[in-house]
Order: sequence, then C-alpha cells, then structure tokens
Amino acid sequence: MLTKDYIELEEKYGAHNYHPLPVVLSKGEGVFLWDVEGKRYYDFLSAYSAVNQGHCHPKIINTMIEQAKTLTLTSRAFYNNCLGSYEKYITEYFGYDKVLPMNSGAEADETALKLCRRWAYDKKGIRENEAKIIVCLGNFHGRTITVISMSNDPDSYRGFGPYTPGFIKIPYNDLTELEKALQDPNVAGFLVEPIQGEAGVVVPDEGYLAKAYNMCKEKNVLFIADEVQTGLCRTGKLLACEHEKVRPDIVILGKALSGGTMPISAVLADDEIMLVIKPGEHGSTFGGNPLASKVAVAALEVLKEEKLDENAEKLGKVFREEVSKIKSDMIELVRGKGLLNAIVIKPKNGKEAWDVCLQMKENGLLAKPTHQHIIRFAPPLVINEAQVKEAVAIIEKSIKEIENA
Ligand SMILES: Cc1ncc(COP(=O)(O)O)c(C=O)c1O
Repeated sequence: MLTKDYIELEEKYGAHNYHPLPVVLSKGEGVFLWDVEGKRYYDFLSAYSAVNQGHCHPKIINTMIEQAKTLTLTSRAFYNNCLGSYEKYITEYFGYDKVLPMNSGAEADETALKLCRRWAYDKKGIRENEAKIIVCLGNFHGRTITVISMSNDPDSYRGFGPYTPGFIKIPYNDLTELEKALQDPNVAGFLVEPIQGEAGVVVPDEGYLAKAYNMCKEKNVLFIADEVQTGLCRTGKLLACEHEKVRPDIVILGKALSGGTMPISAVLADDEIMLVIKPGEHGSTFGGNPLASKVAVAALEVLKEEKLDENAEKLGKVFREEVSKIKSDMIELVRGKGLLNAIVIKPKNGKEAWDVCLQMKENGLLAKPTHQHIIRFAPPLVINEAQVKEAVAIIEKSIKEIENA
C-alpha cells in the first residue's frame, strides 16, 4: 500500500475529526520519523509534546515490554505492586503529598476541576453548587464537554452545548482582569497554562504567573497549572511554572509522562486538597494501572538522566537565534521558551502556514499549523545542536521556496 491508500482508508472508515498533513508514518526513532515509503523526517511536533524523550526511547520501551509480559491492568478494585512505588516516585520528584493518576490530559483537567470544586465546598466554605473557576481566553485543556465549556474557540465548543456553568473567562496575561474576577467570593480556583500551547505558543509577560499566584493566595483561591504541554522539561524546566518560582496548588500533567507510549496523566496536590475526594467519588478503570505506573517512572527517569531540561533550555535559544537570522517577509515573529516555539507566518501570494508545512514535509521536516498563521516547532528534547541547525536550514529553504513560488 502507498501513502494515498492509507489516507483513503482513514477517510473512508474513520471519523473526520482531524485534518492531518498528507504523510503516513510507520516508524520513529529519537528525533526522526519515517513514512511508509521510507522517507525520513525531523519530527518538530513530538505528538504535541508527548514524545519529549524521543520516539521509542529504548529504556521506556523495554520497561513497557517487560511489564506488559507480567501484568497490565487490575483496575483499582485491588492493589497492585507497581502503583505505590510510582506514586512515591512522582510525588517526591515534584514535591507534592499526593498524586491522582488518570489517562488523558482532558481527564486530568477534569480531575483538577472536581478537586477544586470539592475543596471549595469542604474547605473554603463556598455554598454547594456556587463555586466558580477563573479560566483564560485562548485556553486549550482538551475536548470533554466541561473542558470545552471553558473554551472561547468556536471550533472547540460550537454545536456541543448546553455547556457546564461555573467558569469566569478573562483575557490571558491580564492581571487587572484577574484582580477584578478575584473579587467574587465564590471563586475557588484559577486554571492557567503557563504558556498557551494550542493558542500558538503564547508566552505571558515575565512575572505574570508569579503575580497571579500571589493574587490567588491573597483570596484563598487555588492556583491550578495545566502543564500537560508545557511540563516535563519542554520549556527548559521540569515545570514551566518554575521559571517564575511558582509552586502551583494543583499541577496537571499528561503527554510526555509516558514518553508518548500510552495515555498517562496525573494530578498532583497536597493532602489538604487531594484528600477532599473520598473512595468511590472519582476514578478511572485504567488510571494507575501497573503498566502505566512502570512506564511513567521510566519516562520521568529519562528526563532526569538525560538532563532534557538543560538541553531544551540551551537548544531553544539556538533555535530562536537561528530562525531570527532567516530573512523572509513571511516570518512575522518567532517566540517561545525552551523547545516550545512558534513562528507567526505572514501570508504571501495567497500562501499560508499550511503551505509552508507542506513544503517542509517535502524537505524532510514535520510540523503543523495551530490556527491559521502560526506554526509550532516542538522537536523531541533529545535533539542535538547540529540537528537543530539542520532543521532550521530546512525551515529556511521551505519558506524561501514558498515565497518565490
Ligand atoms: C495544555 C493542554 N491541556 C490538556 C490537553 C488535553 O490532553 P489530551 O489530548 O491528552 O486529552 C492538551 C492537549 O493538547 C493541552 O495542550
């Protein structure tokens, strides 16, 4: 079968809820992917930052194979011999009392919202059903009904109502609006992405997170960080909040927690918050399964052993510097932190970000537009300097070819 045959199969039998670039991948290793015709590409998406440790990392895969042969799933109806050590490892790793394991990022966000609401009623003393959570315009926290109820992107929410109430939407990176919203005594939490990934790698002003955190503390409001995309070394620190020395009350993790091998997400918090949920009140058949527990420990170990935070920090600078040297009318802006970056594309002769991505694919690099004019560049964090430079040369060549087409 050729590329077009695989695409036809998906078109015919799969729901049309994605618009992929026309490339059919069949193999991955480190920073590279191969298509079914054997062509090699730099992966500059990393499955939306799930593959921070690189494709098919041997340590993670070996751990996975060993555990898969032994025990994969028991459900939480029983104890298993992997979960406890994972819970100890991840809570010590991030410095929280407890973890609640889930699977997808959206589920972890839902978990954090439930924790926040329950804390509001049990601890803060807000009247039942009146708690509000502040969220930011431009957010992306996943696809469930409650999560899209927080969204202001019509592609995410349109036609899926009625929506879950209880959210106050304020502009991102706007402390004045946060201050105003915090006046409402029924506010229990502030949910924020340290950098808005899906919105196009929107980096807030320096000091925003730290000030927002302090403002929340003054009002006894939980500061909840969605680090699903920004966490796990992607921005040059273990958590993006560390750039501003903020320790969130609740941390939401996903994606790279498995190194891209299976859906593993987690919510971290201290006892005061986590223990408001009692047995039987929340859970998931697969959350905290033995396979996920082992894989997550391996994935976290790799981040530390290979110092992927330092690599992301250093090579992110190289990436932005090299891209800034490209002379092209189509590059309006390059921004980001660590290896979470974006180029804002100015359309020229009817050519847009999508066309640039198609051309980069021709030249051996895969990235995807987020919104119409922004291309996110987020390679696996195991990339080296020579590879970053080679990748930027491909980006430059592709933009020039599109410009002059
Ligand atoms: C910040 C953030 N939160 C949550 C999610 C949802 O994760 P999942 O697709 O695993 O549900 C994403 C996915 O892109 C994300 O970027």
